[in-house]
Amino acid sequence: MIAISGGKPQRVYHCREHPAKPLNPLIQSLTFETARVSKTNRIARKSPIRAAITGVCGFLPPDVLSNEALAVMVDTSDEWITERTGIKERHILKGKGLGTSHMAAPAVRGLLEKTGTQPSEVDLLICATTTPDFVFPSTANLICDMCDIRSIGSFDVQAACSGFIYALTIASQFIENGKCRKVVVVGADKMSSIIDYTDRATCVLFGDGAGAVLLEPNGDFGIVDTLIRSDGAGMPHLHQKAGGSRMPPSAETVAARLHYVHQEGAAVYKFAVARMAEVATELMARNKLTAETIDWLVPHQANRRIIEATAERMKLPLDRVMITIHKYGNTTAATIPLCLWDYEAKLKAGDRLVLAAFGGGFTWGGAYVTWAYGR
Ligand code: ACO
Repeated sequence: MIAISGGKPQRVYHCREHPAKPLNPLIQSLTFETARVSKTNRIARKSPIRAAITGVCGFLPPDVLSNEALAVMVDTSDEWITERTGIKERHILKGKGLGTSHMAAPAVRGLLEKTGTQPSEVDLLICATTTPDFVFPSTANLICDMCDIRSIGSFDVQAACSGFIYALTIASQFIENGKCRKVVVVGADKMSSIIDYTDRATCVLFGDGAGAVLLEPNGDFGIVDTLIRSDGAGMPHLHQKAGGSRMPPSAETVAARLHYVHQEGAAVYKFAVARMAEVATELMARNKLTAETIDWLVPHQANRRIIEATAERMKLPLDRVMITIHKYGNTTAATIPLCLWDYEAKLKAGDRLVLAAFGGGFTWGGAYVTWAYGR
């Protein structure tokens, strides 16, 4: 759209997600010289500032629960779990009074140490989690306190297994608009706190863990594109029945085992396969990426078969797919940062990464990231 200001025609840029809404004047001035409107009417902007991941760190609790140990607890086998999910073992946070923050805080402390960042330099901390320590205060608040990060904005994001992508999407805006210079995004979940270890259909899938990344402004590399999606009609297939405001905790809800993950595996599986592939291929199309130009797929780790189906749709060989599910299981919001942490030594500056996730809600999302450091 062309607007007239002081007699001089000016192009007015509009928000991609809400085309009717013009971008704020600061962004207008930033993008005026460099933006162009593509044929699909979305803004393809060579942003002067990108939010780059400049460090990653993870934390896994020391206790390991193997398939063999699970087979003693419920009617299952290492063979079934391996064949249907790809999982061999998962880590479990044990210890009275320990919650998600007790994994997230060491991940954040390790991140600050390895990136040479002082707690006082952090401008914002976002925690993606479905298993907060408390309903309130937020787990992000607790992590800040445990890491001596004071008087900054911090909050939780709840989008189940897509939580890290959601949090990354939000965090990147604070860097791109110049409001923050150092943002910590942590994905952490103590899934063992909401898993019914008498339900073989869910207890074999999940593990506990945390992963954190530091985002900083960068002129060359960083988060190029993100997309987040949701469909609340998916609720019946994957949710926790009690403990929220609809069904507050009571002796009856506890007796009926309603505080655990309820998942209709086969239904969720179909959506997960379709949506993970959809988000990855959409990011490829709108960023003109091909299987040859992508260095890594970083998929949410829910089931090895879902990961393989996503890679197949992208025509990407498995040696360019980050896979940690065999040793960590599904750690919900932590799977993607834990993948980045595990594969960090293999990454080099300029590598093109496509991140993709699917989770309860339903929620799904993805990001196209160019890696900012390494060999
Ligand atoms: N051991 C042995 N048998 C089992 C087990 C087990 N642990 N679990 C289920 N079975 C049985 C079932 O009872 C069923 O038996 P039946 O045919 O006699 O009724 C049979 O195995 C097949 O069950 P399905 O549920 O159809 O098994 P499926 O192949 O679909 O695998 C799984 C189940 C692994 C859960 C799969 O459906 C899946 O991965 N779903 C998607 C998970 C996901 O992506 N979740 C989203 C993220 S999680 C989040 O957001 C919190």
